[in-house]
Amino acid sequence: MSDINTLQQTLNAFPTPEARLRHLAQAFEGRIVFSTSFGIEDQLITHWIFSQNLPVQVFTLDTGRNFQETYSVWQRTLEQYGKTIAVYAPQADALQQLLEAKGPNSFYESVENRKECCFIRKVEPLRRALAGQALWITGIRADQSPERANLNNLEWDDAHQLYKFHPLFDWSFEAVKAEVQSLQIPYNALHDRGFVSIGCAPCTRAIRPDEDFRAGRWWWEDQSKKECGLHVR
Ligand code: ADX
Ligand code: SF4
Repeated sequence: MSDINTLQQTLNAFPTPEARLRHLAQAFEGRIVFSTSFGIEDQLITHWIFSQNLPVQVFTLDTGRNFQETYSVWQRTLEQYGKTIAVYAPQADALQQLLEAKGPNSFYESVENRKECCFIRKVEPLRRALAGQALWITGIRADQSPERANLNNLEWDDAHQLYKFHPLFDWSFEAVKAEVQSLQIPYNALHDRGFVSIGCAPCTRAIRPDEDFRAGRWWWEDQSKKECGLHVR
């Protein structure tokens, strides 16, 4: 299991993402986690994990700046499945210092300030969430961005020293939404109002049909700078 090619071949032999998740949950039991931001991809993966009782820890990074609609779907998910979602919040001291030094909206002023906020609210909590784990499941899809299209559904994450698996890697947004609706899985109401990729409220807007999938994230920045540091290569 230590070799990524062997693991990839094993996964390819399973016909569905659910079957791949079942296999991984068993093979990496106790060392496998799934990160959810409650976007539509994450809701489908959450459904597969919770409805099959897979031994995978589901966690979210609560930045404190999410949309109320995101908190609503989080709450509905807890009620629907009756399972636990672990929470990693920013370190209070670092957050207090940032807010005192730069105010609540420093991310609009420079890319540096934006990355500082993302580091405190997401990247550092993610490090704690992944410490000691062997496999990290995410909702990344290939057609979310040209950079993501260059990935693979299974990767080695050097920064966190673990495998990363994206069960919906080759699915389209429309296919994910259709599956979520047919299974009556709760999803973020913003997805019906032009929002596709959803992050923190002050840093996410709806997109027009002709815009790129991630055009609504940190829309005031250069296209090339638009990753928050969770997914580094
Ligand atoms: S980001 O890097 O731009 O923020 P994106 O919103 O596309 O990432 O989400 C891709 C995947 O990263 C999600 O499917 C989820 O697995 C993980 N992720 C993103 N934001 C969070 C969050 N706040 N908490 C937990 N996981 C997250
Ligand atoms: Fe801060 Fe915006 Fe990054 Fe959220 S997305 S952590 S509010 S800079």
